[in-house]
Amino acid sequence: MSDSNEVKNKIDKLRAEINRHNYLYHVIDSPEISDAEYDELMRQLKKLEEEYPRFLTTDSPTQRVGATPVEAFGIVEHPQPLLSLGNAFSEEELTAWYNRASKMAGSSEFSFVCEHKIDGLAVALTYVNGEFSIGATRGDGFRGENITQNLRTIRSIPLSVSKEAPSRFEVRGEVFLPKAGFSRLNKERAEEGLSLFANPRNAAAGSVRQLDPRITASRPLDIYIYMLGYAEGWSIPQSHWESLEYIKSLGFKINPNNRRLDSIEQVREYYNTWLEGRENLPYEADGIVVKIDRIDLQERLGNIGHEPRWAIAYKFPAVQGTTVLKEIKISVGRTGTMNPYAVLEPVSVGGVTIKQAALHNEDDIRRKDIREGDTVIIQRAGDVIPQVIGPVISKRPKNTKEFNLLQKTKSKCPKCQFDIFKPEGEVMYYCPNAACPAQRQQRIEHFASRGAMDIRGIGEKMSAILLNEGLINDFADLYYLRDKRDEFINIERMADKSVDNILEAIEKSKGRPLARFINALGIRHVGGETAELLAKHFQSFERLAGAGKEELIHIAAIGPRIADSVSAFFENQENGKIIKKLKAAGVIPEPIETRAGRLLLAGKEFVITGRLNSLSRQEAELKIRALGGSAKSDVTRKTDYLVAGAEPGSKLTRARELGIEQISEDDLIRLLG
Ligand code: IVH
Repeated sequence: MSDSNEVKNKIDKLRAEINRHNYLYHVIDSPEISDAEYDELMRQLKKLEEEYPRFLTTDSPTQRVGATPVEAFGIVEHPQPLLSLGNAFSEEELTAWYNRASKMAGSSEFSFVCEHKIDGLAVALTYVNGEFSIGATRGDGFRGENITQNLRTIRSIPLSVSKEAPSRFEVRGEVFLPKAGFSRLNKERAEEGLSLFANPRNAAAGSVRQLDPRITASRPLDIYIYMLGYAEGWSIPQSHWESLEYIKSLGFKINPNNRRLDSIEQVREYYNTWLEGRENLPYEADGIVVKIDRIDLQERLGNIGHEPRWAIAYKFPAVQGTTVLKEIKISVGRTGTMNPYAVLEPVSVGGVTIKQAALHNEDDIRRKDIREGDTVIIQRAGDVIPQVIGPVISKRPKNTKEFNLLQKTKSKCPKCQFDIFKPEGEVMYYCPNAACPAQRQQRIEHFASRGAMDIRGIGEKMSAILLNEGLINDFADLYYLRDKRDEFINIERMADKSVDNILEAIEKSKGRPLARFINALGIRHVGGETAELLAKHFQSFERLAGAGKEELIHIAAIGPRIADSVSAFFENQENGKIIKKLKAAGVIPEPIETRAGRLLLAGKEFVITGRLNSLSRQEAELKIRALGGSAKSDVTRKTDYLVAGAEPGSKLTRARELGIEQISEDDLIRLLG
């Protein structure tokens, strides 16, 4: 009796713990433990429930698929539940799954489809009469959140498909943030003092479950469709592979690494290949999914609870390791941020030696309670900077202290000794000295970097040398270096040839496109992606430089923070001088021209009348101007288009009299792209 009580207690405890982690992970996107630790808790619980089935309850976390949907989005009932997958953590477990399936199928000869298990967010996309009409999260498998508006911003999701497609069908897939996008997002968030996403899954979930779709739109999300949910009035193909081919033919994105394989040996090979190769994938894969290909077999095998017997997730071991954190050091960022990083006892994780790891900001370090001297868990994924997941508290030496950035730095910038400060509401400390050598050097480095002006030969070392030797003061001076060729050569150990190569690379960088140039300027909060957006919108540097905060804010995906920072950049006198030098050297890119050779709406006059629905009149006018058009208040013979909203006034009559082309709000939106 007491034995049984003990088991019951243990089960209750595990359930409570798992429920808490479920909430942290699925609902608020901020997990406290690694996936591997979570899987381990689930395994313990599943094992106990299998041994003591009398304790199994319908509300056990093993009996449901996902998390509770957030009401704010509106609920979507899934016509067919979205299932989850059972896991195999070893070859033995894979074999056991295969043997069970063979037995039920009455044969061991069938083919499989192997796919990557991408670490993202499961979604179901419903198309009605060829149009994307509902996009939903998995939620608890039966009811998900309606995130249609957000999903519409993901470019790899077709908004419409051939009219020949079934009149109503649903595809399911994984929305994810590629590794590069994940690193960039976390870096930006750290600078802004926002809490960081623990992994790409959380970042994808956090990006998609935004109440403002513009935020979703600003993140480089992608999707792979991995199955057909249902299709009305259509005979489902014989195999999963064929249904994927069909989905692909409709214009959906299917992972090119999917394979149809004929034996379980080949499945093992596929797994081993990607166990090695996953580092080089642009997305995070935490395993492979093995699916039995034949649909009739799938139907015969059926489901057990929420998991199909015909598919399994064969997980990769986590690329984690533990080591001692020797010291927390501070580097100075391009915009003057104090960036803490961990100096580690070198350790090999998945075949790569790790000596340093990113720590982001003081709040994050304190939240995770990471201290100097701790043994810490570190995790790496592909080319993403290794992350410190957290301390192993049981191994904490005595007398460790909570990390304190002001104490560590004695409140001074480690490079220029200026007093550092923390703006209200932010978590980053800053060096206020714009001339701080660390900042100056990094601005130059950034200007010349690959995503910016891409000047070969100007890296960390060379920017430091040029600055220290007084050959340049800022990045604009790079374009005047050729006048100082002799001095340049005189620098210790510089060969004529390498100096000439660098000078040539600098000259060559003059023709870079507008977006790269904007990125190169190093405006706070403007990375490659935002630069791209600004270039597309303004099409010319002059127009961007002349845009006020008001105009910037009206661009989709540009919030007040970026608008502030861009306008402050162009108002700053020092920056004005640098831009003048760049202009004189012929570095400012030409305006982007459309195929017609001009801005899209160049020379076109618009008049708006009546009420617009999807944007304000002011927004519409700003957008027209940004594309080179003009917006007037009166209809004249020179008017090219009259935009007629709801309840148009006398302007419509006047336009009709003059025979001026009349367009609807929708037409205008199409014109504005
Ligand atoms: S198939 C019935 N295929 O893994 C089969 N799932 O625990 C249901 N996932 O929520 C899923 N990549 O979001 C399938 N290639 C793939 C997948 C995949 C990632 C996710 C999916 C699901 C979870 C299953």
